[in-house]
Amino acid sequence: MFNIIIGQETSRFGGCSLAVGDLMQKALASNTVQVLVGDNRQVLRQIEPGIVQCCVTSPPYWGLRDYDHVDQIGAESSPEAYVSNLVMVFQGVRRALRDNGTLWLNVGDGYARNGGTGRSGPNALVGNTKKLLQQRNCKVPNCWGLKDRDLMGLPWRVAFALQEDGWLLRSKITWIKKAPMPESVKNRPSNATEDIFLFAKNPSYYYDNQAAREASGANLRNYWILGPDSSSVPHPAVFPRELARRCILLGSQPGDVILDPFSGSGTTGVVAARSNRRAILVELNPVYARQSRLRINQDLQLTMIP
Ligand SMILES: C[S@@+](CC[C@H](N)C(=O)[O-])C[C@H]1O[C@@H](n2cnc3c(N)ncnc32)[C@H](O)[C@@H]1O
Repeated sequence: MFNIIIGQETSRFGGCSLAVGDLMQKALASNTVQVLVGDNRQVLRQIEPGIVQCCVTSPPYWGLRDYDHVDQIGAESSPEAYVSNLVMVFQGVRRALRDNGTLWLNVGDGYARNGGTGRSGPNALVGNTKKLLQQRNCKVPNCWGLKDRDLMGLPWRVAFALQEDGWLLRSKITWIKKAPMPESVKNRPSNATEDIFLFAKNPSYYYDNQAAREASGANLRNYWILGPDSSSVPHPAVFPRELARRCILLGSQPGDVILDPFSGSGTTGVVAARSNRRAILVELNPVYARQSRLRINQDLQLTMIP
């Protein structure tokens, strides 16, 4: 039986006021998905060091969407500041990981643009992409020699920065999208892939190569062809459950603790619970945190119906 707990900086738990650390102790004693609300740069510091086996996450992509919070990552005025912020977040993750733990990071790219107010493409005014953000990011950033229409190469810039900060980079998986966002471009191929990086805290790390394999029985390859889930989750950037499932099965065992510091709609938590893992989720926007709690609750009730 799973408990779903939603916490603030200080939360009510069992009738008394507890700090996040105490809350975490109680919660992780049982099968739990825990949704903590706050800025992951602060919240991660309160997680007991070394209790997480595997982190599966997807941060906001730089300049793409507005998650409606002053402390959101992805809305920095330069992509350099974005990379530094991510390095800081993943320092907190490394501290929370067991020595043999892994980090699975899905991160997307974007184009340096002057202008660009179209209805599709990386700088487009779609979904919850707000005008404010769009204007700010539709100026070519003054770094890395970027020019108008340059692909910024952000996934690799983040990966190199994490490598330099001490992470061991072990794999780059290409997620081939069965249903990519349409782009009305005529002078380059349309984007239909994203990157997932596998990092380890140390050279000797837990990886169960039997847990997810090719249909032929061979070792899993580093390209995954995945479509979006058919669901009505009210979040603009949900990743497929199968993506999280593969990372969780390869990187952990039943009972282990899975972490997602950019939890969004809680996909990592849903899959962790379904795979008999515990999970700590961190989300800045309380609206998404509430929605993810409902989603996880509903999903677990569905799985319990015979
Ligand atoms: C790309 S979405 C994650 C989507 C998630 N993988 C899913 O399947 O729903 C990134 C999330 O990170 C949150 N976020 C942004 N900055 C944050 C911060 N500093 N601390 C915690 N969460 C943050 C955003 O509100 C957003 O919901």
